[in-house]
Amino acid sequence: MTTPGFRTNEMDAVVECCDFVSFNSLSQWQRLHPNVAGQISCGLRINPQLSFVRDKKYDPCRKHSKLGAPLDQVVSLLKGRDGTLNGVRGIHFHTNCESESFIPLLKTVKHIDRHLSKLLKQVEWVNLGGGYLFEDGCDLDPLFEAVALLKDKYNVEVFIEPGTAIVGDAGTLVASVLDIFESDGKTIAVLDTTVNHLPEVLEFQYRPDVLNDTPGGKFEYILAGCTCLAGDVFGEYRFEEPLSVGSRVVFLGCGAYSLVKAHMFNGVNLPTIYIQRGNGEVEVIRRFGYEDYLSRMGGNISAADRTRNNSSGVTGPQESTVPYSAAMQPVPPAE
Ligand SMILES: Cc1ncc(COP(=O)(O)O)c(C=O)c1O
Repeated sequence: MTTPGFRTNEMDAVVECCDFVSFNSLSQWQRLHPNVAGQISCGLRINPQLSFVRDKKYDPCRKHSKLGAPLDQVVSLLKGRDGTLNGVRGIHFHTNCESESFIPLLKTVKHIDRHLSKLLKQVEWVNLGGGYLFEDGCDLDPLFEAVALLKDKYNVEVFIEPGTAIVGDAGTLVASVLDIFESDGKTIAVLDTTVNHLPEVLEFQYRPDVLNDTPGGKFEYILAGCTCLAGDVFGEYRFEEPLSVGSRVVFLGCGAYSLVKAHMFNGVNLPTIYIQRGNGEVEVIRRFGYEDYLSRMGGNISAADRTRNNSSGVTGPQESTVPYSAAMQPVPPAE
């Protein structure tokens, strides 16, 4: 585990839950390492000060970064200590975001090798972080070379912790069309969801993949969310068949950072969470309602309201009249 936000009174719980911890700064190390030393394998997160990500919001190595002890600081601290730091059993870095190439990883490992060779000799493990997409057909050689360098030269255990690469495709967001109308020559399809359910659309300015979106398709729509925010728009999409009120629109690749970031801006309910088991069965895991919305603002729903809540609910893509499995079928043609 690593976080810039470790608290002293949470360290007992950290010890119970984790085998490895990476302290995020030298200051955090000095304050909290003594509390857990000997109970858990302690490492230091380093900021290698090598930037690979164009958008600063997602660059862990941006100038004045809060993520990891800056390499130059660590190097100068170690100068007076023969290149080692008592108690450090691992080195952790995470320097990339959605990278399709492993060349930045190899560059980072070579950089650390050049600057922290003595510390690498001291440690038992190196955590390479996540930030790589592991796409089909990508060149894995730089990854192998990076791991081989660390293992052959320093005999360390090497960890990776990919997130998006593992779960990115494990979730979809199934929405329905609520309204369709023309605006300045384009057709708007209003959905019963919102970019607030996929906040990275706004944060990253990216256009999520949609099932049956066909370049050159005859029917073009601006897929829009149902909140009052003008920019609550997913983008322009084309389909071979027209959409109509009630048509399903399925956003793909919603497995990472969607549920954890989704919020209830202005009362639009969160989507119901379903799980599809290995045998194909679909189960409802969680439905949200007005009570959830109110409780986030410190409110508490009365018994009478609870009855009303159960009967009507709040708006949002949670109450489907079409079974989930049917929702995954191609968008139906208009009547
Ligand atoms: C320290 C660390 N490791 C791993 C990950 C997973 O990253 P990704 O989902 O980009 O692979 C993150 C994500 O922010 C992270 O901060």
